[in-house]
Amino acid sequence: MNPQLLEQSEATVLTEIDKIRQQFDHAPYPRVPLDLSPQSHVSDLYLHNLVTSYYLKYRQVIQTEGKVILDAGCGSGYKSLMLAIANPGAKIVGIDLSDGSVQLARQRIQHHNLPNCEFHTLLIDDLPQLGLEFDYINCDEVLYLIPDPVAALQSFKAVLKPQGIIRANLHSAYQRADYFRAQALFKLLGLMDESPKDLEHEMVVATMNALIDTANLKMSTWSPSIANPATRDEQIAANHLLVGDRGFIIPEMFEMLRASRLEFLSMVEWRSWDIVELFKDPDNLPDLWNMSLAYASPEEKLRLFELIHPVHRLLDFWCTHDDSDNGLSVDDWSDEDWHHATVNLHPQLCTEEVRAEAVNCIEQGQGFEISRTIRVVALGPIILDGSLTACLLPLWEGAQPIQALVDRYRQIRPVNPVTLEPVSQTDAFQAVKQCLNRLDAFLYVLLDKG
Ligand SMILES: C[S@@+](CC[C@H](N)C(=O)[O-])C[C@H]1O[C@@H](n2cnc3c(N)ncnc32)[C@H](O)[C@@H]1O
Repeated sequence: MNPQLLEQSEATVLTEIDKIRQQFDHAPYPRVPLDLSPQSHVSDLYLHNLVTSYYLKYRQVIQTEGKVILDAGCGSGYKSLMLAIANPGAKIVGIDLSDGSVQLARQRIQHHNLPNCEFHTLLIDDLPQLGLEFDYINCDEVLYLIPDPVAALQSFKAVLKPQGIIRANLHSAYQRADYFRAQALFKLLGLMDESPKDLEHEMVVATMNALIDTANLKMSTWSPSIANPATRDEQIAANHLLVGDRGFIIPEMFEMLRASRLEFLSMVEWRSWDIVELFKDPDNLPDLWNMSLAYASPEEKLRLFELIHPVHRLLDFWCTHDDSDNGLSVDDWSDEDWHHATVNLHPQLCTEEVRAEAVNCIEQGQGFEISRTIRVVALGPIILDGSLTACLLPLWEGAQPIQALVDRYRQIRPVNPVTLEPVSQTDAFQAVKQCLNRLDAFLYVLLDKG
């Protein structure tokens, strides 16, 4: 490359990074009050718990004690707090290029009195300077701002332990197209030349107020919640005037992973990316679809999904080193594996409150809606009947061999309520297995084949 051009492009990259730094020094993200705790946000804790993604990959239940977790681009530290709560005993290291954000993150963690967390003002490119290796890297709402996301993923790979997992996300080019149009408009009007501040925000508000209500951009980007003065500035900063923001499509996401020698593990909200669920009758697809899906790779299925139904703002994914082996899914277990299985409740369900709710349902003779606590899907509720809920109760005390649950099932349901015949060992085993299989698909229970 011509050295003059190289100098020019490096200068452009520096300017972009400086603008991003200024933007987040001025308005650290997210603007969540320091004293607010995510303790009751169980679905979020579930996603931030290393146990979840580790089980998806290796089909083993990992202990979080002693693990080292990086929050890359930690902002004001709300997600670092979430990581600390979701992963008891783990060390949390937050980094961010904005010193103002890092200061807030430190204050937040001090306020909640959580040990074993540290924060550094550092660029992702400079991660090796920390001299640490990580079991889990969380890079939430950052990658789409970075001028060279592949270099960022390569930096993560360089400090990731061999069995480590990365969670990162990109903005969807399709879902967010209206905001990219708004950004193009305000760039053209000069509002994004410098890092936007109060004056630029006011100009956005003035523009939207002056436009007719049926103007397409106003209709698609200016909802009453955005126009609300209490939250307006944060919304405008995160959408209409977000400096550096870019959109991506699934093939670009996979191309980045290949370029970084990382392997796709799963979408974070994997159950709401199932292409089959977009059809009225998933068991009766048109022939073209039956044939196409039979041979489609995970990448192709996700691509089909985003073309039909681009509702997700984020292409939010987990990935690992490209040479790490997958654990054996329960779908591929032998009968022998099932008979030796140990059953665990997901740690985020293993609380006194959830147990009390289960007991209450048993006592009231109602179904226990296990999906009420952790909503993984946009699907209907997952409800367990009283016998199965009672059968699973010992899981709140700790992991159980499957046989212990089967024996308990036979005590709870000694006879078939229709035929009044005794429930055989085989029937009880099948009933428990079927229930666990269903719960394993949502990771409500985690099965270890020993
Ligand atoms: C939208 S905020 C997300 C904050 C936090 N991860 C969350 O989801 O709540 C993006 C953060 O990434 C940081 N950031 C952007 N580029 C970065 C880089 N190259 N190195 C380190 N931090 C960066 C910004 O300073 C900002 O705090």
